[in-house]
Amino acid sequence: MEQTTAVIDLDLPGPRISRHVYGHFAEHLGRCIYGGFYVGEDSDVPNERGIRLDVVEALRELDIPNLRWPGGCFADDYHWRDGIGPRETRPRMVNSHWGDVVEDNSFGTHEFMDLVEMLGTDAYVSGNVGSGSVAEMSEWIEYLTRADDSPMAALRRENGRDEPWKVPFFGIGNEAWGCGGNLRVEQFASLARQYSTYVRNHAGNDVYRIAAGASDGDLHWTEVLMQSFGPLDAPADAAAPAAPFQGVSLHYYTFTGTWQDKGAATEFSADEWYLALKKASFMEHLLTRHGQVMDRYDPAKRVGLVVDEWGTWWNVEPGTNPGFLYQQNTLRDALVASVHFDAFHRHADRVVMANIAQTVNVLQAMLLTDPESGALVRTPSFHVFAMNTPHHDADALDVHLRGVPSREVDGGELALVSASASVKGDTALVSLSNLDADAERTVVLDLRGREVTGHTATVLTAADTAAHNTPDAPDAVAPVALESVRPHELGLEVTLPAHSYATVSLDLA
Ligand code: AHR
Repeated sequence: MEQTTAVIDLDLPGPRISRHVYGHFAEHLGRCIYGGFYVGEDSDVPNERGIRLDVVEALRELDIPNLRWPGGCFADDYHWRDGIGPRETRPRMVNSHWGDVVEDNSFGTHEFMDLVEMLGTDAYVSGNVGSGSVAEMSEWIEYLTRADDSPMAALRRENGRDEPWKVPFFGIGNEAWGCGGNLRVEQFASLARQYSTYVRNHAGNDVYRIAAGASDGDLHWTEVLMQSFGPLDAPADAAAPAAPFQGVSLHYYTFTGTWQDKGAATEFSADEWYLALKKASFMEHLLTRHGQVMDRYDPAKRVGLVVDEWGTWWNVEPGTNPGFLYQQNTLRDALVASVHFDAFHRHADRVVMANIAQTVNVLQAMLLTDPESGALVRTPSFHVFAMNTPHHDADALDVHLRGVPSREVDGGELALVSASASVKGDTALVSLSNLDADAERTVVLDLRGREVTGHTATVLTAADTAAHNTPDAPDAVAPVALESVRPHELGLEVTLPAHSYATVSLDLA
């Protein structure tokens, strides 16, 4: 069998990997907000102003760069004025998308911004185009970010917050082709121009506006949004066009079945293991194709691609509310995440942000909380995010892989090793995923251009591909030191266990 080799020129840094590709997403859906982030001040679960302290502490380990809220589909049903003022007088509403439950609006704008401050992260607020109005959106950004005695700033003060908040990211609608209004893209592109015009920069708060983008391979949606900018083909150093929005989004979920029967989170065959990873590696294709469309209109890459929903979507855990999207998270989910990050790193010149769906108790969560005991569990996916923190704001390095074995999956080939790398100052990080369910794989790192003076390596794996963490076994899947890294005439030789994710940190002279 041919040797698998990864050639990396350590002295040729590429585009910066924005830390925002490690972004998060919290929707009013199932137990993400209520029970997940927020338990209320009277809860036995330790909290500050109702916000769970264990969740904050865990997410601080990930250095989460941004948090998207309040949806998702919920965002286009959400009217922000219902979530301000005294909690006991806030109106109720029906959360029609997610379980048809009654939402009491006890978690609203102030609670979200409090959470953002406790996490030390950036707010990504998603505005309502589907059932809202231009005035409502315009007043929300004024309420959030204006400093003087404007009507909305005064209302914010009446509700107890003097200083304006920073809101660096604002979403103009969500899935406008579906739950966000069932619009045609031509219609939405006009609305996106109109709505984003009124999401104003107040008090030095520079907003990055993100128009609701395509699903999966819908290149036409991206194309029409890009056309709506007008000419963007000026030289890179020309003054930036007065664009109505700065980014367009893309949503893509990984599952192995159909939308009706997506596959189980923990009970899966070897074929479903490979199929999930094949579907995850489709992200590479999507970024290439949407990127090509964007390049035609915007060769200087001024408009960002924002993958603000991605991750696995399995059938809900037996016995849980089908509308709450609660699923377990195994080593397979962790590898789905590592494969996505490799793709985001390779497309760092265009992909400016990505948001895992979702952070707590929903879909491919970082954290699961037990509704009875309140116990908190870090998932295998959490650990991939933690292992990758050195990639935040580092410069991407090309990784040229040779001799990678592959396997036929779903009528195509799945490469069984995925890799990416970055450099920041005197440290480089190499990410290596062995997607082979059964066989270990040795990869030679052919390290060129800078002297490597030391290394440390970490691996995430388990005996079983479906291994996962529970309150009784919270560390069944947890990172440990990887010992099987040896010097090699070209650099280093790394043996990756079957079904594993590893990072190799290199000290550079
Ligand atoms: O993340 C769950 C849902 O998936 C979001 O609300 C919606 O935008 C997408 O369809």
